[in-house]
Amino acid sequence: MGDQGKTGEQPAKELKILQQQVSVYEAVFDNMKNAVAIYKAVDGGKDFVFKKINHASERIERLRNEDIAGKRVTKVFPGIKEFGLLDVFRRVWKTGKAEEHPVVQYKDDRISGWRRNYVYKLPAGDIVAIYEDVTESKKYEKMLEKAKQEAEQASRTKSQFLANMSHEIRTPMNAIMGFADLLKETKITAEQKGYIDTILESGELLVNIINDILDLSKIEAGEIRLEEIVFDLKEVIKSLVSMVEHMVKDKAVDLTFEYPEDIPTKFKGDPTRVKQVIINLLNNAAKFTEKGYIKILVSSEQPDIHDIGKERIIKIIVKDSGIGIPAEKQKQVFSAFSQADFSSTRKYGGTGLGLFIVKRLLNLMGGSIELDSRENKGSEFTVRFTVQEGDGDIGHIKKEFDEDRKTEISVSFSGKKVLIVEDDAVNSKLINILLRKTGIITDSAFNGKEACEKSRTTDYDLILMDLSMPVKDGFEAAQDIRKNISKNVPIIALSAYSSKPDEKKAFDCGMNDFIHKPINHEDFIRKIAKWLGGMG
Ligand SMILES: Nc1ncnc2c1ncn2[C@@H]1O[C@H](COP(=O)(O)OP(=O)(O)OP(=O)(O)O)[C@@H](O)[C@H]1O
Ligand SMILES: [Mg+2]
Repeated sequence: MGDQGKTGEQPAKELKILQQQVSVYEAVFDNMKNAVAIYKAVDGGKDFVFKKINHASERIERLRNEDIAGKRVTKVFPGIKEFGLLDVFRRVWKTGKAEEHPVVQYKDDRISGWRRNYVYKLPAGDIVAIYEDVTESKKYEKMLEKAKQEAEQASRTKSQFLANMSHEIRTPMNAIMGFADLLKETKITAEQKGYIDTILESGELLVNIINDILDLSKIEAGEIRLEEIVFDLKEVIKSLVSMVEHMVKDKAVDLTFEYPEDIPTKFKGDPTRVKQVIINLLNNAAKFTEKGYIKILVSSEQPDIHDIGKERIIKIIVKDSGIGIPAEKQKQVFSAFSQADFSSTRKYGGTGLGLFIVKRLLNLMGGSIELDSRENKGSEFTVRFTVQEGDGDIGHIKKEFDEDRKTEISVSFSGKKVLIVEDDAVNSKLINILLRKTGIITDSAFNGKEACEKSRTTDYDLILMDLSMPVKDGFEAAQDIRKNISKNVPIIALSAYSSKPDEKKAFDCGMNDFIHKPINHEDFIRKIAKWLGGMG
């Protein structure tokens, strides 16, 4: 090849390179996974005609490029206006600014499907839409959404079932425990007394499990509302520590509680839930520690130096030298019904709900829990939650409890008249026996209607009112009595299934106090004493 030939061949070579490039871009265009359509604006950018679509677009729309080239988009896709894409085309053509058209459903007489479009303008003025068909994933998404809703519904049904079931079990348990208690006080042999103690102990365990399940179902159903009352944290923990003292009294375990002087003791929050968290951790420590120590350490962190409010993060560490939890089990102990060692169920007892409830309660309180443990060395649970520093009086619950505590148990209320309104015959009988032992003259009504009739003709010193009853419930009856019969007779609500809203409703209906079932004899008599007067 000579030098002259080189210059003569130049244009032909460039054309060839150009053709090669074009065929590369065409191949890319046609084989792209995304659909691509190129349009030319007509009617001054009001409508658009097809210049070219790629294979993916042909496939998705079930059209052929040669059939639609030169046709108006509004003819080929009559639904494009409704779909919102025509407006996007018009805007992009006018402004030159690319736009994304989010996932929307396209629909006409011929096709329908979900599309996501990206639209931009070429330098030469044509409009390009790159898009994908997301119909399948949209279907999948909808299926998932439906499955999720079904699962949530099933979970709600389960929670509701658990709540109803535990409620139903609590009522007869109340009678079993109550009568066993009464039986214990009759003339029986030491052997028989031992049997009754076993009934009582097992009954108490059962009640605890039922309460846990009830709590759990309430948490799951989002029914737990946190209270905001002033309480003494140090006192709360102290009382819990003394509760677990008896659990470790026969073991070589040193139980210590540290509450530094410089931390305030009064806070605003929900003492019932705080108690629940700590008692679960203490119970576990006591249960899983045979020798060594259990330590409870309280400290406090200021959340933010700039925070002018009196918010504090309380940190409570419960540390023991017990059996510990193997590393691979540490995550799962926080799930429901989960125990580090399933064989432990027999040795130690429990349902595996404790820590799950603790975690959920802390979540609710905006707190957290951490676990550090080594097998056969011990465990350390660290709990953090935020409280407001509180001043003023210790809240309602605590105060009442203290007042109640002053009351002597062996009491006599001879001659006082009490009406027991309770639809469950066994429970009614139990309460009757309990009250008569203190010299009270009892009378019974089996629903709210009867209660109103009886209190019209007799002056009672106190009315004990069950809440859910046939014919007329306790709320209505109390309202009726307050309005039409007596403004002053104390009415105490009795309820197995007690929630905060129930309690509030009871007070709103004119009742004066609330007793939870199953009835604890001492507390029951204290409450009665408080309202029959002259005690404490
Ligand atoms: N302090 C601890 N030392 C050793 N193991 C622990 C400790 N605390 C919890 N665990 C392990 O975590 C598991 C779950 O604890 P959790 O309190 O949830 O249930 P439980 O105590 O078995 O039953 P429940 O609390 O419902 O009566 C326990 O079964 C135990 O295996
Ligand atoms: Mg536990």
